[in-house]
Order: sequence, then structure tokens, then C-alpha cells
Amino acid sequence: MRTQVAIIGAGPSGLLLGQLLHKHGIDNVIVERHTGEHVLSRIRAGVIEQVTMDLLDEAGVGARMHQDGLIHEGVQICVDGVRHRISFKDLTGKAVMVYGQTEITKDLMDGRAAVGAPTIYAAYDVALHDIFGTHPRVTYRADGKNHEIECDFIAGCDGFHGISRKSVPPRAITAHERVYPIGWLGLLSETPPVSEELIYVRHELGFALCSMRSHTRSRYYIQCSLAEDIESWPDERFWEELKPRLDEEARERLVTGPSIEKSIAPLRSFVAEPMRFGRLFLAGDAAHIVPPTGAKGLNLAASDVQYLWRALLEHYKDKSDAGIDHYSDRALARVWKAERFSWWMTMTLHKISENPFDVKIQLAELDYLFRSKAAATVFAENYVGLPY
Ligand code: FAD
Ligand code: PHB
Repeated sequence: MRTQVAIIGAGPSGLLLGQLLHKHGIDNVIVERHTGEHVLSRIRAGVIEQVTMDLLDEAGVGARMHQDGLIHEGVQICVDGVRHRISFKDLTGKAVMVYGQTEITKDLMDGRAAVGAPTIYAAYDVALHDIFGTHPRVTYRADGKNHEIECDFIAGCDGFHGISRKSVPPRAITAHERVYPIGWLGLLSETPPVSEELIYVRHELGFALCSMRSHTRSRYYIQCSLAEDIESWPDERFWEELKPRLDEEARERLVTGPSIEKSIAPLRSFVAEPMRFGRLFLAGDAAHIVPPTGAKGLNLAASDVQYLWRALLEHYKDKSDAGIDHYSDRALARVWKAERFSWWMTMTLHKISENPFDVKIQLAELDYLFRSKAAATVFAENYVGLPY
């Protein structure tokens, strides 16, 4: 098989890149390790920035998002039982949308199926070849046979544990990493959300987040130890741990119910530099990870795709490699700002250190955020998303 761009991974970054390239006449094939059902079963991001919405519109898959997504003009932060609101609308004139990653992935999959662009699911032993040469190739096993795709470029959109980044010689790549000693235990339930807006909770018992997917479906997270086993968290235990972290009003309004999904995610900050190696480009979680506290992972994946698809279009249509040559620098400039914000949110809202000095600094950071319009504006600008 021959294509112009071989895309590894059918998560949001691979599917979005594929859709944008296809729309502009650039041939691409997606190779995904798992089945489509498995990809759709992962409950992850919930908050998307305006620039991500714009890109989904540009890809022609935004209709259901506009119909079902919830616009949020502010966010609430609860510190030791007292709630504060930060208005995105007043401070930046912008808003975010609550629309699940699962739905975005489904919209992208449907969009791809509608145009008949090829995706190979359940592809095993995916391998990348000749990325620094002139004949890059991707090989894999599917249906008990070996396959090969010849291409001009490879887009590594295969997440943190994917093969693309690992295919680069170690001396060509620099990894920056911070691993936090905590995780998030998430629970999805068919219950009305506790509040109209998301509530990020800083509490001496540990962090909590009250989020949602719709007016009837809630998503909650609590900070947990990395050693936790999901089996030892029956739903009742989750609700009992969540309740005391909330303010009185939220506690009274909380509707509990059976979980539809429950999972534990570790918290990590990670950046691989650069993001281009010869004819291989990394995009999304394959190149960088943020702890979910800042709601930035999916949005960063979309911003990488924004730079990459335009660079590839410039290459094919304008015969210019300027965009390709600048891809890594442009993407990383935005990545590092999201890394900073996500790190700040994580360090300020979680129970990480027992040192009373660190706790006082957390409280001072938050008090400043609530009292200073300048600090609140910086927060709001980062949360709604910095311009490209
Ligand atoms: P992925 O979604 O990881 O997709 C990569 C794909 O590649 C997968 O389908 C995988 O199966 C496939 N793959 C892997 N290895 C191979 C291989 N060897 N061969 C072929 N295919 C392979 N982000 C936000 O912006 N807002 C939020 O509110 C938010 N909340 C989050 C909450 C949680 C609990 C978690 C865990 C994450 C959250 N994120 C959030 C982050 C967001 O989910 C990720 O950043 C996003 O999924 C990245 O998309 P991706 O396509 O780059 O990678
Ligand atoms: C979610 O709804 O899953 C969600 C929302 C905000 C975050 C992280 C996750 O910061």
C-alpha cells in the first residue's frame, strides 16, 4: 500500500489530523493497535477550548458538539469548604465547552467512515522504518498477515505508550519529566451534576473535581494514592471519600448513584523535544503529557494537529517546507505554557507535601488568585486556551 501520510494511532490527534488532511486532498492511512470499540471505551477528557472547537468545525465534524456540548463561562474553585468563582467571560470574553473525548472520537470516526478514508484497527507489531531517509515505511500485522505502507511522512499520534517516540534513537531526543506521587480515581455516573459549573476542590483530605458530561451525567474525580487497586473502591467508598471534600451546598445537592465507569489515572508531566525527526512528526500524547488538572491534554493534541496539517498542506500545495521546518518549535512553544499551567494547577490544588510551608504557599497562591484581578485573568487566559 502507498499513501502520502501514514498516521499511527486513532485517538483524537490521529483521527483529527486524518480528517483535515483528507479534506484538503492529502491521502492518509491510520494504523491503530486496538479495535474501534476499545478506543471508544476510554473515558478521558471533558473540557475543550474554543480553538479546539474551531478545529473540529474546520474538520467538518462539529455539528453534534454544538448541539450537545455545554458552554461554560466560568469555573469554581473550592478551598477548604469555601467556593470562589472565576469568570472566563468577564476576564477574557471567552468560554470553554464541556463535551466528552468519547463523543469527539465518535464524531471523528463517523466523519472518517463517511468519506471512506482507511483506518486499520487491531494492527499488531506496528514498526516505523527509514524515518531519516527518503523511503519511510510502516509495517504491521493484521488478519494473520504482514503488511507494509510506503509513505512520504509518518505522523506519530499513538499516545504516551506508543511506538513512534520509541522508534527515535535516544541520542536524537531529550525527555523532560516530572512524575507526581498521586493519581486520580474517576467515576462516571448517570446522575445530575452537583453544580452548573465545574468545581475544582482543594481540601486537606485531598483534591477532588466535580465535572459532567451532560445535565444528567456526572464525572467526579478524587485524588488517590498510586498504590490503589480499583477493585478496592466500591461506589459507596468513592462517594464517602468525595462528600467531606465538598462545600456544604455541594454536599447537599450531590446525587449519588451506580458508576458506569471507574478508573485510576496517574499524574505526569512529560515533554519530548524536538517533535520532528526527519520524516516523522510526533503529535499529542506521543510527544507530551500533562497532568489532567489543567484540562489541557486533548487541547494540546489539537493544537499540534493544527500546526502539523497546515505544514503538510504547505508542503504539498505550495511546495514550501517552512511549516514543516518550524513545526517542532511552534508546537513546543504552546506545549510548555500548557505544561506550566497544568503543573501549577496540580501543585496548588493537591495534597502532595506534608511540609506546612508548602501548604501555606498553596493557600497564599489561591488567596492571591481570588483577590487579584491580574492573577485571575492569567488563570482564565490559560484555562480557556492561549492563542496559537
Ligand atoms: P491517545 O488518546 O492516547 O491516542 C493514541 C492512540 O494510539 C490510541 O488509540 C492507542 O490505542 C494507539 N496506539 C498506541 N500505541 C500504538 C501502536 N504501537 N500502534 C498503533 N496504535 C497505537 N485533556 C483535555 O484537553 N481536557 C480534559 O478535560 C482532560 N481530562 C483528562 C482526564 C483524564 C482522567 C485523562 C487520563 C486524560 C485527560 N485529558 C484531558 C488528556 C487527553 O485525554 C489526552 O491528552 C488525549 O487522549 C491525547 O490524544 P492522543 O490522540 O494524542 O492520544
Ligand atoms: C473531565 O470532565 O473529565 C475533566 C474536566 C476537567 C479536568 C479534567 C477532566 O481538568
